[in-house]
Amino acid sequence: MPVWPGGDTIHAVRYAIEVNSSTIEHIPVLAKTLTEQIELPTDGVMVDATIGHGGHSHLFGRNLGPEGVIVGLDIDKNAIRRAQFLLEGLVCKVILLHSNFSQIRGEVFKQGIEKVDFILADLGLCSAQLADFETGLSFQTDMPLDMRIDKRLERTAADIINEVDEKTLADLIYNFGQDRASRRIARFIVRHRAGERITTTGQLAAIVARALARPGRKRKSRIHPATRTFQALRIAVNDELENLKELLAEAPQLLKRNGSIAVISYHSLEDRLVKNSFRQNEKDNNYKIITKKPIVPGREEIAENRRARSAKLRIAKKI
Ligand SMILES: C[S@@+](CC[C@H](N)C(=O)[O-])C[C@H]1O[C@@H](n2cnc3c(N)ncnc32)[C@H](O)[C@@H]1O
Repeated sequence: MPVWPGGDTIHAVRYAIEVNSSTIEHIPVLAKTLTEQIELPTDGVMVDATIGHGGHSHLFGRNLGPEGVIVGLDIDKNAIRRAQFLLEGLVCKVILLHSNFSQIRGEVFKQGIEKVDFILADLGLCSAQLADFETGLSFQTDMPLDMRIDKRLERTAADIINEVDEKTLADLIYNFGQDRASRRIARFIVRHRAGERITTTGQLAAIVARALARPGRKRKSRIHPATRTFQALRIAVNDELENLKELLAEAPQLLKRNGSIAVISYHSLEDRLVKNSFRQNEKDNNYKIITKKPIVPGREEIAENRRARSAKLRIAKKI
């Protein structure tokens, strides 16, 4: 079992994961809470729509027997490889697919499965992806400005930054990054690219930092000034909100009666989509909402795993 040296604590489950021939720690967010909330029969069928390292799936998979099934999806090919490593020893059937969760129903159906007991989506990214040079997402390290989690996509972040007009760029930073300085940031980007193409994350981070460093302007936030612009671009490049809408639309038809859907989101744009979809499905007599308010990690979990700090978990049951 790939247990992190030092093992689990009462607030977190800690896994040791192989990434680029070194071992890193992976703590699945709200994992203990999830296993308390969701009961899977030993012959249950679960779809992990965002398999990542396979942390959450491993936890549920430990309680599945040989009749149980985990179908894991991920748009990152490397994630599939990493999940394989973690899920290897499970006795249940494990099917890992390099697929987008927007296609969840079709993908599961192709495996000869019509209905499932549990759908889990732990949105966002794994720390390994942030650190991955190829993904090009970090503003801490200078990387090619790519941001495609799925390398089958054609348009990179550099394509967007260098090619769309100033207004479209400003709207994108405002709508997906919620940065009120979006117009100023867009102006700085357009001015800079008139001189040279913007090709790295370091270049873009420096341009945004300059745009926001007005004398006398105090940014109260302690986050890096480029955080919101990077979030906006990542959402646009990977079409994240549209994919989530499709997942949420397909889920009710894929769940068995009394089956559950659990979604962990990391920013308000995602959480709003989940909340509205669950509410609409409750009105339509598809779901009973289990979490009237989202479940958030406690201080102890956040102290052990900083990635958990913005997490919100919502659960609904098919009726
Ligand atoms: C936070 S990680 C999941 C971690 C996982 N729960 C674990 O414990 O190891 C999110 C994963 O979702 C994947 N992902 C993001 N959008 C996706 C999509 N539309 N379809 C499938 N996977 C997606 C990312 O590539 C990433 O590997």
